[in-house]
Amino acid sequence: MIIQSAINILVVDDEDHICDIIEEALSSEKYNLMVTTDSQKALDYIETHPIDLVLSDLKMGDFSGTEILEQTLKIHSDAIVILMTAHPTVRTAISVLKKGAYDFLVKPFKLELLKTTIERALAHQQVTRENVRLRGQVEFLKIFNANTTGVEIEKILEMVVESCKNELDAIAVGLIEIDPKTGEPLNFYSATDTPEQKEIVCDEDTLSKFMGSRRTRPVIEAQRIKSKKNQAVRISIYQPILIRRNLHGIINIIIESRFGQITPGQLDILSILTNSAANAIANNNLYKDLQQSYLEAIHGLANAIEARDNYTAGHTDRVSILAGEMAEALGWDERKKYNLVMGCTLHDIGKIGVPDNILNKTSKLTEEETKIMRVHPKVGLQIIRGISLFKPAIPYIIAHHERWDGKGYPKQLKKEEIPIEGRLLSVVDTFDAILSDRPYRKGSTVMEAVSELRKYRGIQFDPELVDIFINLLRQGKIDLKEHYEIDEDLSGLDEIIISETVSV
Ligand SMILES: [Fe+2]
Repeated sequence: MIIQSAINILVVDDEDHICDIIEEALSSEKYNLMVTTDSQKALDYIETHPIDLVLSDLKMGDFSGTEILEQTLKIHSDAIVILMTAHPTVRTAISVLKKGAYDFLVKPFKLELLKTTIERALAHQQVTRENVRLRGQVEFLKIFNANTTGVEIEKILEMVVESCKNELDAIAVGLIEIDPKTGEPLNFYSATDTPEQKEIVCDEDTLSKFMGSRRTRPVIEAQRIKSKKNQAVRISIYQPILIRRNLHGIINIIIESRFGQITPGQLDILSILTNSAANAIANNNLYKDLQQSYLEAIHGLANAIEARDNYTAGHTDRVSILAGEMAEALGWDERKKYNLVMGCTLHDIGKIGVPDNILNKTSKLTEEETKIMRVHPKVGLQIIRGISLFKPAIPYIIAHHERWDGKGYPKQLKKEEIPIEGRLLSVVDTFDAILSDRPYRKGSTVMEAVSELRKYRGIQFDPELVDIFINLLRQGKIDLKEHYEIDEDLSGLDEIIISETVSV
């Protein structure tokens, strides 16, 4: 039996007739009874079986019931022990209560008293165990609170895994998040005592237990193992994470238990934590959908702005792609790369405030017109500032016209004072502008654009980022044919000495 439900009671008394009376009195109740007159047998039983309550004689020949008491509490920390004696003294009573006995019955006692004492003891035990469950609910509330206060999904799922491990007293817990459409794993989370256990709880094969099935309850398997000095049972629990009946993941748990039991309370905790994982994933998906819708709307707006100037068509898309290659080379994580797409798409959104006659002017801008044009990063900031979803785009918008030498705008920031997002965008934004046709000039060649970047390396641009970009061109990682319809011989790039600090 893996899930414990009946109450296990051990009765030990060296007098046969006492055992018989107690057995008869309690047999009508729904208890799993083990009754014995043999104290050694009782000790063995305590060692090898689950126990909720022990009723023990205090003196059995030379054998003391305190040994039963101590052994029980050593192995079953929340078990109840009631001792019985025909020769009570206050000293003995105090002594055994101090050692952790729940109560002390003086023989002969009425069977009614025995029954009410046991009922009271089990009620007390129930409250203690409820407290454990409440602890699990506190964990849930922490996670729920994190869910509603904008904590990242990865952090929430890490909390779920840690809480499962603590609350179920597990040796290893893994959570595999999957794409419900393809069934492919998306992310793995784990909390384990050893690195080897991580492979077991994050084993993708466990997904097959739920693939294509409508199973909502956990699969529980038990296997007897040799653990340190004792025999133990390894319980594996596979808990599906379902959202609207679709499988979004699985929580794998390994518990090593001496008696191969998990309690209904532990399964309740698991169910609560699984629900919070499902809620977190569902919320995150909704958030991503919302973010995508916003991004599409803003993308449409960016395209509308580009459409005002025929010569910049496709600029933001190309810049996003070039910047994406740079981010890859810099080893940015997925979230930073997502923000980069957002930032590149929105970087010139402030041009909405620039009049058409300035935006489309074919001759050199006057001083006044240049002033108006240079306001676009600040206008962009004002547009975006009120939309919390787009906060990550701010450094791209506000800093893409700053210069390494501090002569850019709007804040005249210098070198590393300029956010990396702005420094990176500045390089690819300029490269794309040089390559693109303008009303007053034809687009330059790649080699010309590269020599321009080299010329202003350490003046207008972050020198290291220029080197990284040129290296990407040299390695053929920028598809010039696709984006610019250019089929240029770039072998001359090999002659450019690349700084040793490049970290591509
Ligand atoms: Fe701009």
